[in-house]
Amino acid sequence: MLAVMPALKWMMMSRVAATDRAGRRVQPIVEDNLKNDVRRFWFALAFIAIAPCMSAIAADGTAADVQAGHIIAIQSLTKGRAACAACHMENGAGQPDVGIPRLAGLDARLIEEQLRYFADGERSSAAMAPYGAALDDTQRRQVSAYFASLPIPPEPDRFAATAAQLSRGRSLYSDGDQRTEMQACAQCHGVTGLGVGQFSPRLAGQSVAYVADQLSRWRAGDIRDPKGAFMRAESRTLSDTDIIAVSAYVAQLGQTP
Ligand code: HEC
Ligand code: HEC
Repeated sequence: MLAVMPALKWMMMSRVAATDRAGRRVQPIVEDNLKNDVRRFWFALAFIAIAPCMSAIAADGTAADVQAGHIIAIQSLTKGRAACAACHMENGAGQPDVGIPRLAGLDARLIEEQLRYFADGERSSAAMAPYGAALDDTQRRQVSAYFASLPIPPEPDRFAATAAQLSRGRSLYSDGDQRTEMQACAQCHGVTGLGVGQFSPRLAGQSVAYVADQLSRWRAGDIRDPKGAFMRAESRTLSDTDIIAVSAYVAQLGQTP
């Protein structure tokens, strides 16, 4: 759409300015201008038609990012350090049992933002700090584009939740807790846990170990990063059993076809 305005402006502005033999400007002949306007109209129309193709070429830039990001994900960046894939896996599934988060399908801007927080220590993690710091801005964008582009991996979290845990988890997630005035998670993460763009992360299919660990750390007062204030307020009143229940509920979201 941005291309439409300059095209129309150009069409309107560039009317023929006729000059006489001595080079002085004279009143342009009406028919000439009319013919010119028609020609320019078709040019402008063609330009407008081409504009979407041009943005498709720009989108190809992202495909190049994904490709470059794939290489970053599977190769060690620093001597003696593992590649992202060693922990998060090449398919971005993470390791549910040990709380290494799934990155596949997370919002690219969100991954990029978190990597910056790890790099400058705003989000403290002994495991991630060196990896965040090893990436420059371009590599951060590329590796984020790669993990964001991956389809949701088929391996579900093998945590064996009881029916009572899932039911309590669903209630906390969808309705919140009136007794403690805790808001429903769904309000910010969406009813199906898909997250809201760069604001709140996708929770559907994230592992019990990781979600429960993050909630416990927020509850203990860890701010994590500037946006962590939302989650610190949210987790303040959660009991240990409720943390497991709501984590078990989000882990199985999106796992059933
Ligand atoms: C040694 C294992 C390990 C390696 C290698 C590793 N990570 Fe991590 N990553 C973790 C752990 C553990 C966490 C959870 C951190 C926490 O507890 O907050 C994490 C968290 C993350 C998060 C936050 C996800 C979220 O949902 O907030 C991102 C993004 C991430 N890693 C990206 C990467 C990238 C990109 C690389 C490679 C450059 C990488 N990691 C390499 C272990 C690793
Ligand atoms: C008021 C809005 C809001 C509510 C309500 C909310 N969240 Fe969040 N949540 C956020 C935001 C914003 C973030 C990103 C925080 C950050 O980047 O530090 C987040 C992040 C998270 C993460 C980190 C995921 C990751 O990939 O690292 C988890 C886990 C989480 N929320 C679980 C929950 C659960 C469970 C509930 C309900 C008990 C809930 N949230 C309710 C806004 C909210």
